[in-house]
Amino acid sequence: MATRSSLLLLSYLAVAAAAGVLQAARAQPDSNGFISIDCGLSGKAGYVDNATKLSYLPDAGFTDAGTNHNISAEYISPGSSRFFDNVRSFPGAALRSCYTLRSLVPGLKYLVRACFRYGNYDGLRRPPVFDLYAGVNFWTTVNITDPAVAHAMEAIVVVPEDSMQVCLVNTGAGTPYISSLELRPLKNSLYPHVNATQGLAMVARVNFGPADTFIRYPDDPHDRTWMPWIDPMIYEEITTTKTVQSVENDVFETPSAVMQTAIAPPNASGTIYLHWDAEPTTNDPSPAFITVMHFSELQLLRGNNTRNFNISINNQVVGNISPDYLYADASFNTNPYRGSSQYNITFRATANSTMPPIINALEIFSIMPTVNVPTDAKDVLAITTIKKQYKVKENWMGDPCVPKTMAWDWLTCSYAISNPPAITGINLSFNGLNGYISTSFTNLSALQYLNLSYNNLTGSIPESLSKLSSLTVIDLSGNHLTGSIPSELLKRAQDRSLDLRYDNNPDLCINETCTSSNGTPNLAIYISVPVVAVMMILLLLVYCLIRRRKIGSTNNTIIPHDERRKHSQQVDNFGYATVHLKNRQFTYKDLQMITNNFQQLLGKGGFGYVYYGILEEGTQVAVKLRSQSSNQGVKEFLVEAQILTRIHHKNLVSLIGYCKDGEYMALVYEYMSEGTLQEHIAGRDHNRRNLTWRERLQIGFESAQGLEYLHRGCNPPLIHRDVKATNILLDVKLQAKISDFGLSKAFNRDSDTHLSTSILVGTPGYIDPEYHATMMPTSKSDVYGFGVVLLELITGKPPILRVPEPISLIHWVQQHLSHGNIEGVVDARMCGSYEMNSVWKVADIALKCTAQTSTQRPTMTEVVSQLEECLDLELDHAGSGAALPIGYVRKSSTIFEMDHLERMPMPSMSSGPSAR
Ligand SMILES: *[C@@H]1O[C@H](CO)[C@@H](O)[C@H](O)[C@H]1NC(C)=O
Ligand SMILES: *[C@@H]1O[C@H](CO)[C@@H](O)[C@H](O)[C@H]1NC(C)=O
Ligand SMILES: *[C@@H]1O[C@H](CO)[C@@H](O)[C@H](O)[C@H]1NC(C)=O
Ligand SMILES: *[C@@H]1O[C@H](CO)[C@@H](O)[C@H](O)[C@H]1NC(C)=O
Ligand SMILES: *[C@@H]1O[C@H](CO)[C@@H](O)[C@H](O)[C@H]1NC(C)=O
Ligand SMILES: *[C@@H]1O[C@H](CO)[C@@H](O)[C@H](O)[C@H]1NC(C)=O
Ligand SMILES: *[C@@H]1O[C@H](CO)[C@@H](O)[C@H](O)[C@H]1NC(C)=O
Repeated sequence: MATRSSLLLLSYLAVAAAAGVLQAARAQPDSNGFISIDCGLSGKAGYVDNATKLSYLPDAGFTDAGTNHNISAEYISPGSSRFFDNVRSFPGAALRSCYTLRSLVPGLKYLVRACFRYGNYDGLRRPPVFDLYAGVNFWTTVNITDPAVAHAMEAIVVVPEDSMQVCLVNTGAGTPYISSLELRPLKNSLYPHVNATQGLAMVARVNFGPADTFIRYPDDPHDRTWMPWIDPMIYEEITTTKTVQSVENDVFETPSAVMQTAIAPPNASGTIYLHWDAEPTTNDPSPAFITVMHFSELQLLRGNNTRNFNISINNQVVGNISPDYLYADASFNTNPYRGSSQYNITFRATANSTMPPIINALEIFSIMPTVNVPTDAKDVLAITTIKKQYKVKENWMGDPCVPKTMAWDWLTCSYAISNPPAITGINLSFNGLNGYISTSFTNLSALQYLNLSYNNLTGSIPESLSKLSSLTVIDLSGNHLTGSIPSELLKRAQDRSLDLRYDNNPDLCINETCTSSNGTPNLAIYISVPVVAVMMILLLLVYCLIRRRKIGSTNNTIIPHDERRKHSQQVDNFGYATVHLKNRQFTYKDLQMITNNFQQLLGKGGFGYVYYGILEEGTQVAVKLRSQSSNQGVKEFLVEAQILTRIHHKNLVSLIGYCKDGEYMALVYEYMSEGTLQEHIAGRDHNRRNLTWRERLQIGFESAQGLEYLHRGCNPPLIHRDVKATNILLDVKLQAKISDFGLSKAFNRDSDTHLSTSILVGTPGYIDPEYHATMMPTSKSDVYGFGVVLLELITGKPPILRVPEPISLIHWVQQHLSHGNIEGVVDARMCGSYEMNSVWKVADIALKCTAQTSTQRPTMTEVVSQLEECLDLELDHAGSGAALPIGYVRKSSTIFEMDHLERMPMPSMSSGPSAR
């Protein structure tokens, strides 16, 4: 998928992924947050399912393994869903074959459903048995012996990451195949049994009543599949056409259509009897079960008629029920049932009940532990990039390290209890690798052992490999590497902290004369040396000395000779390149002209006033004049000037020129006609229309890019230290740019990521609590401030609310979201026209950014790539009108024709309830 992060990593990916971009863009949830995949559907076009009107996509954008097949004609049944007509199967040596579902909201509950109909697609007449995994956790074993049976496997899980894999595992009993894969988001309040470490795998979901009403979406907005069931020889059906309402705080939201039908024995003394088998298996040696029984009285009981009955499981009474008239209630166990190989459920009327027992619907789940933690996400991204670059297919599917028994070939992983598993060793020796050494190896921060020997690798050895501090062995022998060995690596080899092997690389330069950097990254340091204005030289002296020391201490590389000469021509008294300042210099008189004698005030900052001006050629500018009364601001003013002269990015306000004329100091910027983001959010100016969600998202994304540039693109990197909505300016096209660098600080990316300052700076509501406590600002302090800005974009509210007690916006949003109430936080001025998934996702990013501890916050690079995904999500739905938010799906009275009912296994299923 062409996310920003992968584009950043290597340009080859951009080429490789270009063809897949369209597909990737479509491989997104629809406006309900649903993903519906017809596995094995060939071609690029999806289709709309007749019964549900949901769009099913071909699966090519979700998996890179397997082959398509049609099932045998004799098994195609016109009544069943189209996705049962073809399958994708996964022959070959791969143990695990996976689908990747993306653009999910981490921490949210999802219903995942995989459907299977063998249909003798391979002509072998031998249905296989294989395992199914949800992410890194065992889900179920697929063992469907009847080739005609269409079987749905369903699980409800909390998804820990923003993507999830569903994997088919070959257990040596035939080739795995799959017919369809569907994913539906659920509100977190539903199915309270499900949490981060425990999911539910469906054993049965039965709608008792007439056998011709198969219910799913849109009658069930969550698209659960409810199998109709009745044994008319034993039970009577009871139905109503009246709506059955939900009770308050309903945690199952069983649709009325399901509740409107029920079964009962013909007379009050009769019982309802159901049972299911629970044989232990190797994967689930002590199966544990949750049952959810749904009841509603459908008959208006007159006089002193009563319906009251006990529920027994294996002869033990577990509940007593008197269902309410036309209200859906549920009875369920919180402690799972365990330890029996068969479960008998009995419903029996109590002595003074005049009516027989009834049941409207029943769900049986087995507990699905989801305690396995996936491999460190950064490692996954890096190794996936490496996999793509070298086109490794064999067995490199699913999570690289988890489960242990399925870890990828040639990798070694560490499995600490406190941390997610990490990749510690890679041995790709004799693997026919072509091309350059991937810089993604550098991102495997726990890597200790790297063996790339005896391949066909070309190019130079990336300098960045020396950043891998745990690396103890690196073997690059037997390749066609060129250039020289990075000095840092050599140094480590010399002090024996690294075993560095590079023989049999005929073109590698290993003698003294060329132990220099061969890549360009080091040159960048010299080229981007601060562009210093003459007027500032004295004031910058201190800064320069610091810079020089810093470079001196970290510079272990030598500039190639001719490069050095080029630089030496420009070296000034301070040993620094005084490259001519591109920015224009203004006199005070010029400023008077430009601003028409400081006529139009744009705003006031801590350092003085900002005026509107027009240059001779008509360019509009903002002139920031340092107030003479403010001595305090000199330092910050100069810091800003200094910084602005050397950083250039489309999302940072750019400097046009400066003025140092006697007492007067001023900076002249590009004019941002739309003012500050804060003004737009507060909506104080009534002439301004409200920002749409898309515009807000775009502004967030652009500001994030500006900050990311400060953190990663500048040399040295910078911390802004005052990220807030008033410091994000908008130009005439609403393009966002970060401004006000007066408080910025340089930090050294390589060593300390934080720096100590004695004065707490920033703006209330935006200040990182960790910085507040330690007085050490980090780039994560900016991330925190940015998270608050994102929350402002979502809610349209200021960082500190008064409702009536002061409460931080962060807390306020957390409170609402913990109740699953996203609508309650979204800015009403957007009038509901937004894509709910992208709002959820942005809220999630914002809350991560504002985590209490900085280590839990993402980097700006991560934020940028996440926001880009949100933007994709939004663009994907542009034009499709207002999206229906999760859980607010229109009700339809349409009765859909019975789908693959007879084919569905419930009544015949060994583990399903059945009548006796
Ligand atoms: C779905 O609808 C199309 C067009 O109305 C029809 O040709 C097709 O047979 C229908 N498929 C099923 C399975 O009902
Ligand atoms: C699959 O199911 C059949 C029939 O229930 C059973 O006999 C067989 O042992 C099962 N196979 C596996 C591998 O579980
Ligand atoms: C999930 O629920 C189970 C059973 O109630 C409990 O034992 C477990 O601690 C919960 N896990 C989390 C992460 O809350
Ligand atoms: C309740 O039931 C008894 C016996 O079935 C009957 O005699 C009595 O009239 C009923 N009472 C009412 C209020 O309907
Ligand atoms: C369930 O009912 C069957 C049939 O009556 C009986 O054989 C079995 O022992 C019962 N199982 C349990 C665990 O009570
Ligand atoms: C009869 O029903 C009432 C209310 O439905 C209940 O409170 C009472 O305990 C029942 N008596 C018996 C003997 O089951
Ligand atoms: C090795 O790489 C070179 C240059 O990329 C290429 O021409 C050659 O075919 C490759 N050899 C093998 C065995 O892949």
